[in-house]
Amino acid sequence: MKALILAGGKGTRLRPLTYAMAKQLVPVANKPILHYAMDSLYQAGIRDFGIIISPETGEAIKLSLHQWLKDDARLTFIPQDEPAGLAHAVRIAKPYLEDSDFIMYLGDNLINADLGGHIAAFQSAGYDASILLKQVPNPSSFGVAELDSLGQVIRLVEKPKVPKSDLALVGVYLFKSSIFNAIDRIQPSWRGELEITDAIQRLIDDNAVVHSRIHPGWWLDTGKKDDLLAANHVVLNQYLNYEIKGDVDEASRLEGRIHVEAGAVVIGSHITGPVIIGKDCRIENATIGPFTSVGDGCVLKDCQIENSVILEECHIEAVPGCIEESLLGRGCRIIKSPDTQESHKFLLADHSEIQVV
Ligand code: DAU
Repeated sequence: MKALILAGGKGTRLRPLTYAMAKQLVPVANKPILHYAMDSLYQAGIRDFGIIISPETGEAIKLSLHQWLKDDARLTFIPQDEPAGLAHAVRIAKPYLEDSDFIMYLGDNLINADLGGHIAAFQSAGYDASILLKQVPNPSSFGVAELDSLGQVIRLVEKPKVPKSDLALVGVYLFKSSIFNAIDRIQPSWRGELEITDAIQRLIDDNAVVHSRIHPGWWLDTGKKDDLLAANHVVLNQYLNYEIKGDVDEASRLEGRIHVEAGAVVIGSHITGPVIIGKDCRIENATIGPFTSVGDGCVLKDCQIENSVILEECHIEAVPGCIEESLLGRGCRIIKSPDTQESHKFLLADHSEIQVV
């Protein structure tokens, strides 16, 4: 079984972060989202990975996956010129996939699923396709499945205005090569994309066996800021272990599960886990946590931060009040103005957002 991982696209919903980086490389608990997908596929026994990349972020994805690479894993990068849809990505991957069954995984999804069991069930039952579904409060933001009274999928609609159910399509799909023929018979949707949802609907219309399973675990589509913070919360909560590799002075107070990487220095600070502090950070007289990830090389001094994701090399110093529910890109600076008058000074990229009281 091969894997097809979709790491192209534009990432417009995570701007301005995604002007500078691929959305699949935004870290959750200091690890790129895409690496979670690779890890869970690898644990399920996959060794052959095809990765869809875009012209804008393809090189960064390659670099990041070369850091992930295991000895017995093979990576094949498949450039997609335009984000023309999930089914378009499958179509252009045909020379790589050949006639193999494959698992398709959306590179911006985080899922705690037993993929090994899912793959084994697919192969032994001989389904044409298998999809995972999950109840969501906002089905209009996803592909939505309608089931009959026996639990069989009868209709799939991409981002319906009036959804017929609250069952969203999770970003993990299993296919046989029959999906290529289905893709050849669909048209671009109202948003101009070849939708995989429409291709699976084709299979259903052809009376092919499309199996569905309600996903029992958590699933997070990290497309927007709040989704990403929710993912950070869940992953820190679930996986973080207490481990202190850096230096924490005696005046500091650590409570709960805290991970401090090598080279980090914590001085006179109060950290409430779960919190991860990256390599070579300097945390001084700061109150951090809970549910906060701090990337490598940050300086956090005289400040309070909770429920946030801070990427590498940020500098936050002498900021009054609490910074919360925030997502900071690499190298951001938030510092107290040297002026005495009450004023704010900003240098913001396009689509930045600041909330002030
Ligand atoms: O997250 C689950 C949802 O993912 C499903 O419920 C929907 O049915 C499915 O269409 C998809 O919807 P999104 O609008 O969230 O897909 P998005 O454009 O975010 O793309 C998902 C991933 O695929 C992301 O990592 C980018 C990548 N991608 C996307 C497109 C359109 C590509 O590699 N190439 C593309 O052409």
